[in-house]
Amino acid sequence: MAETSKILIIGGTGYIGKFIVEASLKSGNPTFLLVRETTASDPVKGKLIESFNNSGATLLYGDLYDHGSLVTAIKQVDVVISTVGYGQIVDQVKIVAAIKEAGNIKRFFPSEFGNDVDRSRAVEPAKSAFDAKVHVRRAIEAEGVPYTYVSSNFFAGYFLPNLSQPGATAPTRDKVIILGDGTPKAVFNKEEDIATYTIKAVNDPRTLNKILYIRPPANTLSFNDLVSLWEKKIGKTLEKEYVPDEQVLKNIQEAPIPINVVLSITHSVYVKGDQTYFEIEPSFGVEASELYPDVKYTTVDEYLNQFV
Ligand SMILES: NC(=O)c1ccc[n+]([C@@H]2O[C@H](COP(=O)([O-])OP(=O)(O)OC[C@H]3O[C@@H](n4cnc5c(N)ncnc54)[C@H](OP(=O)(O)O)[C@@H]3O)[C@@H](O)[C@H]2O)c1
Repeated sequence: MAETSKILIIGGTGYIGKFIVEASLKSGNPTFLLVRETTASDPVKGKLIESFNNSGATLLYGDLYDHGSLVTAIKQVDVVISTVGYGQIVDQVKIVAAIKEAGNIKRFFPSEFGNDVDRSRAVEPAKSAFDAKVHVRRAIEAEGVPYTYVSSNFFAGYFLPNLSQPGATAPTRDKVIILGDGTPKAVFNKEEDIATYTIKAVNDPRTLNKILYIRPPANTLSFNDLVSLWEKKIGKTLEKEYVPDEQVLKNIQEAPIPINVVLSITHSVYVKGDQTYFEIEPSFGVEASELYPDVKYTTVDEYLNQFV
């Protein structure tokens, strides 16, 4: 039987966290969840936690801001995966401190799940958000905590159902706005696949102290490719409005929060090509679909079929 590890997930009730919990439970790795007591009594999230518990997850009550609870939870496991959200990114240094104190953790996966923040060329306000993740990386490395950084690129569920058109709830059938010239390649991955690859990496020595890029070939495509794919599916040519780089930058400056955050992220990916402009070198990274060719990931082509 393949090696298993006891995995603690901090943030398992969050958007990407719940997929990670499901994949962990499915994989047979004993799965522990750090949950806040107030969340356990929430009518909706309480049900989710209960269903995880019924599927075999061990619940540990605690909080990122309660050091003792973190250390107690961490001492019971081998691997910690954090999927905390935007507001808690920088405070993951508290997890690093607890891991250091506990002294038993063989791998930490901080909350990353996006662009490779060390190779990002994003402008503000995305820049500061990415810098917070960089800060956590440096804290992990300074403390000598073994790690894997999962660079999952775009969550399909965030960027495909609306074809990345602000405010849209379904893919457009008439006009599409394209940032820049639409040629840099972006990467879109279904959340279940991101979770599967993340859990596969837990017991894999090839991902130790590396960035795990999820960049499967069939999901790596330019915005223009994405639009053509959609046009083929609906049998219609869309009207296209290209927004030049300088105009996108101006729009970011003028947009309110949080639209400016989303726009600066899409600028980094669609205009600058930050998800794909660099090669993955063995010294710092590995690519998930190459490591795990047995995983039949959902392609963008397949994903879009549900909207036709
Ligand atoms: N690549 C992409 O397209 C993309 C898109 C979105 C997000 N992301 C990234 O994915 C990661 C996770 O984001 P998300 O949107 O999935 O997060 P989220 O939905 O906001 O979930 C946050 C999780 O953290 C938990 N949490 C918050 N405060 C806590 C505390 N004090 N103690 C313990 N747990 C606490 C929450 O628990 P409660 O239920 O108790 O509140 C929840 O489970 C982030 O790094 C984000 O940047 C990537």
